[in-house]
Amino acid sequence: MKLPELRISDLVAKIPVIQGGMAVRISTGSLAGAVAATGGIGIIGASGMSFEELAHEIKIAREKAMGGIVGINIMFAAREFLGIVSTAIKEKIDLIITGAGFSKDVFKIGKEHGVPIVSIVSTVRLAKTAEKCGAAAIVVEGKEAGGHLGTDRPLFDILPEIVEAVKIPVIAAGGLINGALIAKALKIGAKGVQLATRFVLAEECNASLPYKKRYQTASEDDVVLIDSPVGMPGRALRTKFVDQIIKGTAPKPVGCDFCLKHCSLKYCIVQALIRSQKGDIENGIVFSGEKVWQLKDRTIKPAKKIMEEIIAEVEEVP
Ligand SMILES: Cc1cc2nc3c(=O)[nH]c(=O)nc-3n(C[C@H](O)[C@H](O)[C@H](O)COP(=O)(O)O)c2cc1C
Repeated sequence: MKLPELRISDLVAKIPVIQGGMAVRISTGSLAGAVAATGGIGIIGASGMSFEELAHEIKIAREKAMGGIVGINIMFAAREFLGIVSTAIKEKIDLIITGAGFSKDVFKIGKEHGVPIVSIVSTVRLAKTAEKCGAAAIVVEGKEAGGHLGTDRPLFDILPEIVEAVKIPVIAAGGLINGALIAKALKIGAKGVQLATRFVLAEECNASLPYKKRYQTASEDDVVLIDSPVGMPGRALRTKFVDQIIKGTAPKPVGCDFCLKHCSLKYCIVQALIRSQKGDIENGIVFSGEKVWQLKDRTIKPAKKIMEEIIAEVEEVP
């Protein structure tokens, strides 16, 4: 199967693969730029970044992208949601993907500045609402995805319903770890796919080496669901800290800056994600997709190589 182009508003990606945004500081400018340069869409995970840091990462991505498409991902649950959106627009971002909650205001801002807004949804109801509010496209995320989850249903259960329900482009996400699954999603009617877990093992990915090694050694039993203080479940790999969350003994936040609009304050998820990004994975949270252990090749390689392999795998499918 030949990969089609992906059109979102006036943007045209030669390869219909979006590298999913990964916070905190897992997908930064270097990964987003490298993916954009291959003809896909590179996304900076902006949740947990300051405005200055985001502006800097967008510049890094642009320098590497060779004119390719660069976007940001920001979760609605972040207190600084609108500030991050404004910063990205000021830095002339190509598109904004929003997840972990739903904002109607952001569509108005996007329209005013001509920046397409893409919503991550997991239900027909939210897909229709996003379309009505002016979303340029939607990402349909199944329960196989990494990070915060909006559903317990598999991608291939939800995808056909949503493809049927909306007219805007639908992008499939969650567990698409090989070309056969990507081709399956496209044949159902998805116009593109969003992948994250596979890109954590890119050289340009900003995760620490211990984080990437955790991906390389993970078995099926290591993939667990945790209760996030955001109020949603999250998919992560077992570490000492994750075991404490599951047992209810994780340490309470210290020096909280109230970065979330609503937080259970059971533990600090941002600090735990930052610790693992920097290398202290046992005292942190390593978000991961459900199928990490099924990846055929878990070596670390350039993002360009990963994209070439994805294209070759899809082309092998009749
Ligand atoms: C390490 C990691 C961090 C993530 N962080 C975010 C995030 O900040 N915002 C978001 O909307 N999705 C986040 N996700 C979800 C991805 O962007 C993507 O939609 C999903 O993981 C795709 O499934 P896959 O990982 O099986 O390819 C994250 C996923 C991973 C693996």
